[in-house]
Amino acid sequence: MRNFLQLFPELRTWTQTLDLEQAHRLCQSFEKIPFREWQALKIVSQKAFKKKSLPAKRWMQPACFTLEDRRVQSTLWQQAESRGIQHLRHGKVAALTVAGGLGTRLGFPGPKGLVLVTPLKRKTLFQVFAEKLRAIEKLYGVRMHWFIMTSSDTHEATWEAFQKNHWYDTQYLHLFQQGELPAFTMDGICLLTDEPRVNYYPDGHGGVFKALASTGCLDKMSEYGIETLSYFQVDNPLVYVCDCHFLGLHLDRVSDFSTKVVTKTSADEKVGVFVNTEDVLRLLEYSEMPEFLSVKKTKEGQLYFKFGNTAMHLIQRSFLEAMAEEKLPIHITCKTMQHWHPLRQSHCATSCQKLEYFIFDALPFAKNPLLLEVDRKEEFSPVKNTQGQDSLDTCMRDQISRWNRWFVNCGLNVDHGDKEINNAYYLEISPLFADDYISFKKMWNALVTKPGCFENLYLE
Ligand code: UD1
Repeated sequence: MRNFLQLFPELRTWTQTLDLEQAHRLCQSFEKIPFREWQALKIVSQKAFKKKSLPAKRWMQPACFTLEDRRVQSTLWQQAESRGIQHLRHGKVAALTVAGGLGTRLGFPGPKGLVLVTPLKRKTLFQVFAEKLRAIEKLYGVRMHWFIMTSSDTHEATWEAFQKNHWYDTQYLHLFQQGELPAFTMDGICLLTDEPRVNYYPDGHGGVFKALASTGCLDKMSEYGIETLSYFQVDNPLVYVCDCHFLGLHLDRVSDFSTKVVTKTSADEKVGVFVNTEDVLRLLEYSEMPEFLSVKKTKEGQLYFKFGNTAMHLIQRSFLEAMAEEKLPIHITCKTMQHWHPLRQSHCATSCQKLEYFIFDALPFAKNPLLLEVDRKEEFSPVKNTQGQDSLDTCMRDQISRWNRWFVNCGLNVDHGDKEINNAYYLEISPLFADDYISFKKMWNALVTKPGCFENLYLE
């Protein structure tokens, strides 16, 4: 109790009202993390109130392999694909999904991976990803290991859903749980439950490095000969998992950490943005990006910092291992949180400080990081909000438009491709049939009996 009171002296009188068992429970929960770490976290939370100004650095547009480069350097692009395929065929690639988040912003109480996302079959995000991985297994004759990071918020429900759905027919699944951090009230007291215990919360997707190490997943990866991880968030059903072109470029560059980017649609689009400072590539999160940087324009009137983070990365296992030993900075978000207030002796919802690690803070540690620009229409449509941009509606519309476009590109008479969902054919193509235009074209041409009607068509 001495250490607890050293950090939170204002709770002394309250702790004197606790019986022995309660005091023991409180101390036990407090000791879940070492005292030194507590001290450091308390300092970080106190500093969050001080107004920070951005260090005076030269903020530059980073280098990126753009869509135009892809066209101009077509030989390099083709060679990259062959190299990527080889890496994949040799079983050196696995998938890594961060799925510790709830669908709260979508009004969905469970793990976001269980949101029903496809237009006809109403498949969950997890099922869509599982089908993508099964398709890769079939195409390249490899075992696709899939590492999924859950949190205390999502672990049980995720596990149950996978079990109930026969693991979505995947065979090499590894669910592992991320770590936790305390949160603080604006008065600097850690959040408690009424038992009383210290309440802990998921430590952000940057917790993935430590979690992979502490759960033995890094050892497993090494045992299976996995060298590169295709990392993606749980919210984007358009993701190309293990994209061979991307893999090849990443390997050619001997990069530790590569990212696919999209050109931002507006200065206030809610995506992290890549910047170069003193030759170091960094990502500034949208909530932390100073306005003068977001609105900066080129002479031609385009956004200067235009490369938005899709959170689709390729990461070397050796880099994951190295990062598990590093300390990442902590980000503090102020949000309304439910907790037990010991001084008021009641539950309340107040503005609190949530502490998180972000995976992209590892970027400055990475050798030769690569940015690859991709076509948003083909690869990026995350589900984040109930309405408007990045909602379930826009995501379904984008899936349907993509499939319609493939038909049009094959010369078929579907001319509604890029229009609103109401004007496009309502259809669905499983990744098991095809997950990109090139494979779709091959599969479609090989169909002996082609369906005559596109409306409500499902291909698997
Ligand atoms: C995220 C990125 C942003 C990027 C955008 C692209 C952050 C901080 N920002 O924004 O740069 O442009 O996606 O769509 O990530 N997660 C965990 N454990 C946690 C917290 C989150 O696994 O403790 C997972 C979530 O399940 C989700 C992903 O991390 O898969 C992203 O989290 P979210 O909070 O939704 O980030 P965004 O604000 O959408």
